[in-house]
Amino acid sequence: MKVVAIVGSVREDSYNKKLAKYVQKRYADKFDLEILDLSGLPLYNQDIENNPPEAVTDFKLRVKAADAVLWVTPEYNATIPGVLGNAIDWLSRVEKVMIGKPSWIMGASMGNLGTVKAQAHLRDILFAAGLQSPVLMANEVYVGAVHTKMDEAGDITDEATIAFLDLVVANFQQWMEQTAKTQYA
Ligand code: FNR
Repeated sequence: MKVVAIVGSVREDSYNKKLAKYVQKRYADKFDLEILDLSGLPLYNQDIENNPPEAVTDFKLRVKAADAVLWVTPEYNATIPGVLGNAIDWLSRVEKVMIGKPSWIMGASMGNLGTVKAQAHLRDILFAAGLQSPVLMANEVYVGAVHTKMDEAGDITDEATIAFLDLVVANFQQWMEQTAKTQYA
């Protein structure tokens, strides 16, 4: 199965980017994970949505071609970052490439709550009319205090986190294979 990761942080040393890369590497035998770069996406503008810049068409094509989306996001001001909201706005309009596409959410933060609020908001957003993306229930990955659980290279060093990821990735894999076959009206 082909999965794309949409990461809500574009900064070089992003913990969330590192988490996506860790998942890509550790579970390479389970699914092919492509990490998409949001830094080239222009601000959503309804005036150009029918004829958007190539960065948008390319982004949407990659999402469309994927069997599922893994959202890996920080929390900004108790919700999702604007970078992520912008990407979602593009995905939700004209050709609505998220409809029926399975989603799974993860997030990392240095605080103990590990993006709880951002993930709750994102889950709600994914059910909006322009997205209608079924989201994996439970299996919620909040990597709190991430700076104590990951080394400089981005490898997770905390055994309990690794064991939890092994479990939830297996659940995700099984669920997305079933869900990707479901036909949505
Ligand atoms: C934050 N951060 C943050 N953390 C949190 O747990 N709840 C929050 O509401 C916020 N709000 C917030 C707003 C803004 C504008 C910034 C820049 C940061 C801290 C955030 O979790 C931290 O910077 C992460 O390291 C960002 O994720 P990446 O870039 O490392 O993936």
